[in-house]
Amino acid sequence: MRAAGDTKVVRGVELRRDPAREPCFEIVHLHHDVPESGSVTLEGRRQRAHREYNQEVQTLEIAALCLVDYPDAPWELRMEFARQCWDEARHSELAFRHLRELGGWKGMYPIANLDWSVVAMLDSLPARLAIQLRTFEAGSLDVENVAPTMLRGLGQEQLASILEAIEADEIQHVRFGNEWVKRLTAADPRAVLRVASAMAWLQKVVETTGDDALKDIATIGAARELAGFSQAEVKEVARLQRTTIQRAMTTPGDPR
Ligand SMILES: [Fe+2]
Ligand SMILES: [Fe+2]
Repeated sequence: MRAAGDTKVVRGVELRRDPAREPCFEIVHLHHDVPESGSVTLEGRRQRAHREYNQEVQTLEIAALCLVDYPDAPWELRMEFARQCWDEARHSELAFRHLRELGGWKGMYPIANLDWSVVAMLDSLPARLAIQLRTFEAGSLDVENVAPTMLRGLGQEQLASILEAIEADEIQHVRFGNEWVKRLTAADPRAVLRVASAMAWLQKVVETTGDDALKDIATIGAARELAGFSQAEVKEVARLQRTTIQRAMTTPGDPR
């Protein structure tokens, strides 16, 4: 779990300190500081491969952190995280190979680790599942759904096939995230409140940092979160949220 000194402050918001990276990487804190110039030019394609490479590494690290932080989680859930680590490691290898084939290299562009910095602040496993799997990974699935067709239109068959292979695994990650948020909240109704508090905190991070990429995905995620719960649960969350929201903003994922 998070220890003293494990955090950093970005535009006034306390976030988890970045994971270790090789010295070749320049680390920035927000998505708009990572270059992104579309998928048409060679430069843009290298930037995309570089971003995806770091994104997959980061996702691997988040799944591994859940294994480390929650040794007493149900065994089947720990197996899901372990399989996810294997999947994300393969995805990062695919993205890295693609980057090299395009003539790129590690550290060619700045990287941001915002997903890690947000999710690793949460002290609740259901909240981590909701934000990492049901919000961030499900949000990327929405993008990946349309990307292969667009890339084939640009003659980029290889990347289109890579994304399709990755998507097949990502569907399973979102599926186990859904299943385990339901199981954990059924076993402990207070977990619903923790999920809601984490979503409220995520909105606060978006507003304070002004990170547009995070905003897009958080907005989709908030709608998806509410859709995942019954009307009675949503009403109860809204009632409890009114009294706990202030605390949720200062203590992510832990509304007690
Ligand atoms: Fe992945
Ligand atoms: Fe994934």
